[in-house]
Amino acid sequence: MRKKILAPSILAGNHANLSESLMLAEQDGREWIHLDIMDGHFVPNLSFGPQTVSDLRKNSSIFFDVHLMLDQPHRYIEPFVEAGADLISIHLEPEYDHLNSLNKIKKAGIKNGIVVNPDTPIDGLFPFLKHVDLVLFMTVFPGFGGQKFIEDVLLKAKETSMIRESENLDFLIEVDGGVGPEHVIPCLEAGVDIFVAGTAYYKLDQQGRNRFAESIEKVQ
Ligand code: DX5
Ligand code: ZN
Repeated sequence: MRKKILAPSILAGNHANLSESLMLAEQDGREWIHLDIMDGHFVPNLSFGPQTVSDLRKNSSIFFDVHLMLDQPHRYIEPFVEAGADLISIHLEPEYDHLNSLNKIKKAGIKNGIVVNPDTPIDGLFPFLKHVDLVLFMTVFPGFGGQKFIEDVLLKAKETSMIRESENLDFLIEVDGGVGPEHVIPCLEAGVDIFVAGTAYYKLDQQGRNRFAESIEKVQ
């Protein structure tokens, strides 16, 4: 059984004091934090860049799961590696050399991931499954926190998890967008390992956050 992890998404934190939002997750005992990078082209929103990631890195050793929502992700791999990313995931949808970029991330000594939007068929993922540490299924259309979880995406996660078993592969499966405590069981059934949660995580009190995390991380 792969380790199950709740990764709070700092996008839902306080952007005037992101290190406070990061520390809250760290003090709760979270091992991963999810960092959303948006370019205003691939998604209709802007978030923050490598300088912010690098400044957050100075006070933290938590695993940095960096999700690039960019039209040209290959141009930004190096700056985010240097900023201290532990994993960089890049989208399947834009046109660029995906395999070359995935390899570039690995060669930098960190983990790589490929991401698909809710309406992207999974066939396009197949050539990359052998080359990735993580497959991220967007359960909302990316760009904004606080949207509604799209359940149908779990069918794609399930199918991918079955391919993972039959091909003896060992990438992690992550979901991101609208994830709350009510989605834990169906996600686990679909083979999900990493649960990104922004709004649902940061709006809970400490007891609620701990309960949410336990429902994921205590699964054996
Ligand atoms: C959506 C981002 C998500 C977002 C999730 O564009 O990729 O990581 O922060 O936030 P919630 O959990 O609020 O949907
Ligand atoms: Zn994300």
